Amino acid sequence: MTDPQVRSFSRAKARGIARGLRAKDFLSVLDLSHEELDDTLALAAQLKAERALGRTSVTPLAGKHVALLFDKPSLRTKSTFTIAVRELGGNVIDPAADVALGSRETVTDVAKNLERWVAGAIVRTFAQARLLEFAGAAPSLKVVNALTDEEHPCQAIADVLTLREHLGDLRGRTVTFVGDGNNVAVSLAHAAVMLGMCVRVASPKGYELPKPIIAECARVARWGGLVEVTNDPIAAVTGADAVYTDVWASMGQEEQIDARETIFAAFQVNESMMDAAGPEALFLHCLPAHRGHEVTDAVMDSPQSVVFDQSENRLHAQKALLAKLFT
Ligand code: CP
Ligand code: NVA
Repeated sequence: MTDPQVRSFSRAKARGIARGLRAKDFLSVLDLSHEELDDTLALAAQLKAERALGRTSVTPLAGKHVALLFDKPSLRTKSTFTIAVRELGGNVIDPAADVALGSRETVTDVAKNLERWVAGAIVRTFAQARLLEFAGAAPSLKVVNALTDEEHPCQAIADVLTLREHLGDLRGRTVTFVGDGNNVAVSLAHAAVMLGMCVRVASPKGYELPKPIIAECARVARWGGLVEVTNDPIAAVTGADAVYTDVWASMGQEEQIDARETIFAAFQVNESMMDAAGPEALFLHCLPAHRGHEVTDAVMDSPQSVVFDQSENRLHAQKALLAKLFT
């Protein structure tokens, strides 16, 4: 390890873990102050370096249980949170979906039960309002958004960590999201503008980033960060430092898959789109990818693709988030 790295980790340790988050829960990137986002990213880098050496210096979850409540499928989020909780000294419980947030009892009653047993809940569900209701019902339960229809904040923290690893300081850099203005696009926009990035979102008409998000981003942007919305994917990727895409139909929109195949066809990230972006442009995808649809094999498997770095960084970013939340 070089001296600057050691110094950087020491600074991260002094700043990052020492203070917990102001908010009880992490339901949105907007729950973090700028300083908390910076500290979380510094701590994630520290924990990543430590893990490579076979250790974790912080165990804020020792003696604690965390519940995993997933209304939708997950490989990455569930696996990485399970590992993260265990590496931070805690244990997970994983109630079956039909008794977690199903129709067996109210969301509020589930939260009030869990609050008596566990310190935290990692929740993947449909409406963000359902998550807010759950978190609001249990004042001593720390709740993390593991994806809702509207936001995917844990993904975004890993995404900006990955962008920083590859691009360095993100101020003035451009990331273009091509496709549906969905939960992943929203959280990416929140985090990226907080770090001073220009975020371009290119979507078919009617599938743009929701208008209120543009105002939210303007409110939290630093260092000239901004969001631009367009219907022209080629113009949007031209000159971008990174191109990001996600599935055309998200979980819960399965009945729209066929219609969206046609609507989004011109928004496929393929070699000619990456050519427009340039040879240095990174390619990102939250995964799972539908190869041959929103992205081609050639792009997914190209040297420009950092999709598995993103996937790895889910673990480090979430360990940092949990460490901050439980400090
Ligand atoms: N990116 C992501 O959230 O993946 P999973 O749906 O597998 O958790
Ligand atoms: N937008 C996708 C992201 C999956 C990680 C979905 O919500 O299904």
